[in-house]
Amino acid sequence: MAEGPRNEKLEMMTLHKILFTVFVLYFIYKYYTTTAPVIVRIKDPKFTMLGPFNTTHIVVEDNYTQLIDINNFTFKINPQPCNDYPAGLLLMIIISSNPNNRENRLIIRNTWGRNHDSVKVVFLIGEPENLTIAQRVKNESIQYGDIVQGNFVDVYRNMTYKHVMGLKWVAHHCPTAKYILKTDDDVLVNSREMTHFLTRELSPWGVKDLITCQVLQNAKAQRSKNSKWKVTTEEYPSVYYPTYCAGWAILYSQDVIPRLLKIAQTIRYFWIDDVHITGVIAEKIGVTRTPLSSLILTPTTVKQLKVFGPKYVGSFVLGPPDLSRDKIMEIWSSIPA
Ligand SMILES: *[C@@H]1O[C@H](CO)[C@@H](O)[C@H](O)[C@H]1NC(C)=O
Ligand SMILES: *[C@@H]1O[C@H](CO)[C@@H](O)[C@H](O)[C@H]1NC(C)=O
Ligand SMILES: *[C@@H]1O[C@H](CO)[C@@H](O)[C@H](O)[C@H]1NC(C)=O
Ligand SMILES: *[C@@H]1O[C@H](CO)[C@@H](O)[C@H](O)[C@H]1NC(C)=O
Ligand SMILES: *[C@@H]1O[C@H](CO)[C@@H](O)[C@H](O)[C@H]1NC(C)=O
Ligand SMILES: *[C@@H]1O[C@H](CO)[C@@H](O)[C@H](O)[C@H]1NC(C)=O
Repeated sequence: MAEGPRNEKLEMMTLHKILFTVFVLYFIYKYYTTTAPVIVRIKDPKFTMLGPFNTTHIVVEDNYTQLIDINNFTFKINPQPCNDYPAGLLLMIIISSNPNNRENRLIIRNTWGRNHDSVKVVFLIGEPENLTIAQRVKNESIQYGDIVQGNFVDVYRNMTYKHVMGLKWVAHHCPTAKYILKTDDDVLVNSREMTHFLTRELSPWGVKDLITCQVLQNAKAQRSKNSKWKVTTEEYPSVYYPTYCAGWAILYSQDVIPRLLKIAQTIRYFWIDDVHITGVIAEKIGVTRTPLSSLILTPTTVKQLKVFGPKYVGSFVLGPPDLSRDKIMEIWSSIPA
């Protein structure tokens, strides 16, 4: 009986500990399950929100067989995924891809590019110089039906042909998609969150005059011999580039596509596609670029995502650029399904 009070004391302490643990667990649970209220995180929108009764009238004036200064342009492979969506598609993702990067394409098809109803993906490719690779691309296209191929040589300096081919393909073969995202094959798109962002945050009725991306300002044309981006004054005379979008992820509204295409067909070729299309040409059509950076992961937030989980990092629509295949899979697997 002498042990009575001591037991009670012990029990009280255990009770405190249990209560404390329960509270801590409750707060952790709350933290990870409460959904943050939806807020428009685009701080300074430069595009036009549409209302329920607005329609945009889109006119495509484009010579199908011309691609800038190529006068006998053809699509060597030309799938028509948008024909399955007569009422329109939310998002068409066009991915500039190197013919050699079959592995990247496989990973994209198995992760963020897996088709869901409102989003489709195609890969933009030119003609590989290596005939074995050319045959492999052909085979891959038969298997997956998601490769758009043009008849220009697929080399680095021809990447503007590739981007403009993407605009041409959308204008002629996917004019009912509301939005077009142009990316590269080493990028991660958080496709589910992107869908949510487009339909709930941006506008349920769509927008026009939209070009949004990681905006680059006051960039200088590189003149140094060792630069991958070296351009001569003959290619580009000015010291500075206009404000432009980093080419790895550019979100366009459909109305912008034929307007960009029209100018791209008439002005002199410049091989740095993002500068040319989202800088020089976007200025000519008077469309301002809206920064999307608050919705793009940085290398730091990628680490946080791994350690603390998606709740901590908050919603994002794009990973950082230049990802390895492993990194794409790793980030994808840490996003909740
Ligand atoms: C959308 O429609 C409203 C009225 O229905 C009009 O006032 C507005 O200018 C339109 N906006 C655009 C971008 O067409
Ligand atoms: C389209 O462009 C090609 C090559 O420049 C030209 O031969 C053809 O006549 C043009 N077609 C039309 C309909 O303008
Ligand atoms: C297109 O024109 C180029 C140069 O004029 C020529 O080398 C090429 O063979 C032509 N391609 C086709 C498919 O006719
Ligand atoms: C073409 O690509 C194949 C497969 O990668 C490679 O084995 C071959 O050496 C390449 N041929 C040339 C001429 O580069
Ligand atoms: C392409 O596919 C054919 C038929 O399936 C096969 O015989 C050929 O080896 C493949 N070629 C390449 C380069 O993968
Ligand atoms: C780009 O493609 C065109 C058209 O196929 C080709 O004539 C040209 O040689 C290519 N450019 C380079 C740098 O290979």
